[in-house]
Amino acid sequence: MESLIHDWDGECVIVRYDTAAHAWMFIAIHDRTLGMALGGCRFKVYTSPREALRDALRLARGMTYKWAAVELPFGGGKAVVAPMRALDAAQRESLLLRFGDILESLAGLYGTGIDLGTTPADMNIIGRRARWVFGRTPEEGGSGDPGPWTARGVYAGLQAACAHVFNGSALAARTVLVQGTGSVGAPLARRLAVDGARVLIADAIPARVKALAEEIGADVVMPESVYSTPCDVFAPCAIGGILNQRSIPRLECRIVAGSANNQLERDEDAELLHGRGILYVPDFVINAGGAIAHASLEVMRWTEEETAKRIDRIRNMVAEILELSADAGESPLHEATRRSERVLEDARAAKRKGSVDASEVAR
Ligand code: PHE
Repeated sequence: MESLIHDWDGECVIVRYDTAAHAWMFIAIHDRTLGMALGGCRFKVYTSPREALRDALRLARGMTYKWAAVELPFGGGKAVVAPMRALDAAQRESLLLRFGDILESLAGLYGTGIDLGTTPADMNIIGRRARWVFGRTPEEGGSGDPGPWTARGVYAGLQAACAHVFNGSALAARTVLVQGTGSVGAPLARRLAVDGARVLIADAIPARVKALAEEIGADVVMPESVYSTPCDVFAPCAIGGILNQRSIPRLECRIVAGSANNQLERDEDAELLHGRGILYVPDFVINAGGAIAHASLEVMRWTEEETAKRIDRIRNMVAEILELSADAGESPLHEATRRSERVLEDARAAKRKGSVDASEVAR
């Protein structure tokens, strides 16, 4: 854990071991140049606290780049709540309340929301103890599950990626493999099926994937065959780290574009994809729909229509990034990263200027 923190470029990590639930809690604050840190809370049993910390650090970093990509005034942060073993409902609830106490003690340093393993009902629980909670149920004043909004953004990004690779042809002509049929993968697969695309779906939970396959007429792919199944688009919508030295050589697709955070195990894996001629749409750009929805509906108080429009801008953003990357002959990850860094640099410069102006006034 020492080396993970040593090699990380973020601001700070709040660490708590909860004895009652045998759970680790990590809140990683990566960069608050653009505003308070805001990012979801992941709830998951990991193989070790180190893996949980690693996830928190990388997820928080991804949030910094995501907010910068969509130019909304928030910083990168993420929470991971990692019980050492599965909890029953009562244990889970009391753990979430204690997480809420920590959140409240941070007094606005970090705001939380939904991520893998948490639901609007969980946010209601955390919200009993803390402000700065997003994604509560509508009855409790929140905007609910951001999954469908994230799916909307991924869909827009997929349209741009397919237009780029297949000369403007529609998604209807494509085969898309969706990995993960949870709160983003399921609405995405539904939408693609309505469009007439050939949809392949995979999920670690057999009953869940079977039910969705029957509902939308999709074909089921076994989890162990996901990487080697031929398709036009591979859409990872589950866990991170799935694009790595082991999986990339097996891929039989033209495009990788999905909602999962941290799809690349290491940034260098983008070069492996590029080398194989597989177009990788950077996750923090294409999956920003959920973040946009949280900010738009709960902070800016934009209407659903405005929120949808803002999310649909992901289509143009992806198209631009892909064009510039093709011209430069490099992986789209570089252009996407540079864009976000430019936004952060401009904000830092404006802040420095702001402080000079203030001192001038004082003089
Ligand atoms: N967890 C989702 C993401 O990483 C949605 C989210 C964004 C939740 C911002 C809270 C805050 O994009």
